[in-house]
Amino acid sequence: MRTKTVKLEYDGKELELPVLYSTTGEGCIDISELRSQTGLTTLDPGFGNTASCVSKITYVNGEQGILRYRGIPIETVAEKMTFVETAWLLIYGRLPTMAEMKAFSTRLTNNELLHEGLLHHFDAFPPNGQPMSILSAVVNSLICYSPEIMDTTDEEAMRNAVAAIISKVRTIAAFSYRKAMGLPFVYPDPARSYCENFLHMMFSIPHKPHQPTPEAVKALNLFLMLHADHEQNCSTSTVRIVGSAETNLFSSVASGICALWGKLHGGANVAVFEMLLRLAKGDEDINSFIERVRKKQARLMGFGHRVYKTFDPRAKILKKAVFDLLETERINDPLINIALKLEETALNDDYFRERHLYPNVDFYSGMILRALRIPLNMYTVMFAIGRVPGWIAHWREGNEGTRRLARPRQLYQGPVETPFIPLDLRHGEEN
Ligand code: ACO
Repeated sequence: MRTKTVKLEYDGKELELPVLYSTTGEGCIDISELRSQTGLTTLDPGFGNTASCVSKITYVNGEQGILRYRGIPIETVAEKMTFVETAWLLIYGRLPTMAEMKAFSTRLTNNELLHEGLLHHFDAFPPNGQPMSILSAVVNSLICYSPEIMDTTDEEAMRNAVAAIISKVRTIAAFSYRKAMGLPFVYPDPARSYCENFLHMMFSIPHKPHQPTPEAVKALNLFLMLHADHEQNCSTSTVRIVGSAETNLFSSVASGICALWGKLHGGANVAVFEMLLRLAKGDEDINSFIERVRKKQARLMGFGHRVYKTFDPRAKILKKAVFDLLETERINDPLINIALKLEETALNDDYFRERHLYPNVDFYSGMILRALRIPLNMYTVMFAIGRVPGWIAHWREGNEGTRRLARPRQLYQGPVETPFIPLDLRHGEEN
């Protein structure tokens, strides 16, 4: 079959660039020979048009609102799978067998404790320390206590490192909450499932174990699964870039946590809630807030997405799940009405329609966390726990085959060469 090409004319020369196709039919111009053939580079701020890698993990179609993990639609994942199973699917590339699931669960259980020495780190953080900062610092510190988990060169060691990070990140998150609340640590209970165990570590108190309802456990599974991967987003690209320098898995994931923190990315789930709480206080009504957004004086957090130009399928699933959870847990949360009204007002407004701005994953996710009694400053931490399998899958994929150090070019527009003036001869205004 003849491959398609794109012709480029520059400086009297003609260059043919091959067009590669995704398995779903989208074309992509391969420019890897561009600079060596023409001396030119390409400029694409924010990487809106640039595929940074070839990947087989997650497919997103932003025009049609499609999301698939290893080919499985997110709606099926949400309905039929658990978070642990989803993690295996993303990392190992196919659905696990029953025996593989059992082996993976056992590995997760075997890795759930933190080194006792590591617990002193929690004492050193101030009581109101930012949980995202604690999470990234402690994840990075894991390798100080177990240096052997840095070596992932053989498959058995890799399997252990994968289980260690997925299991321990949950323990670290729960311990940081307990520390902030001045409560004793509750150790993981090996008899409990991944999500139930997290809620146990968060909310049990000595002599009074917390028993979450099956609906709460299901909702947490759903929340984590929906956040598990989203191809080359900001934090995942960060993990891949850091990993491309042969940085170990744990430090690469710690860098992903830092990237996720920003409020245009994972931190949006906190920003959405702060926005809803401000509106609930009544200092400003929804119409005047939307008016400020139209005037670019504010952003409607939880709306808009680089890839989705229609409904984010995760937002649709979460919206329904919020109502189910509020009903089964018998919670009357007035914030849901504010969120609904805000969504309706925005969806009927020309500003949002013209720009194809729809609710993204962060718009309703906080409502689930609030119903689970997770405090607001932990919302992005919860996103991070969910995203860990995706980061691992991409770190592994980036390190398979022909790895190349990630190193973008730039379009330099600074001074060509600046004459040096010795310090004592420099005169001018102070600023
Ligand atoms: N509120 C108001 N206006 C918006 C919003 C928003 N939430 N999102 C985009 N716009 C406007 C922009 O101002 C721009 O308007 P213009 O054409 O008049 O200049 C237009 O829509 C295009 O927006 P860009 O900023 O170019 O879109 P980009 O793809 O760079 O940004 C982003 C995507 C960062 C997610 C943006 O939509 C946003 O800031 N949303 C709010 C934060 C948020 O919810 N982030 C979570 C995203 S999901 C995730 O990361 C997990």
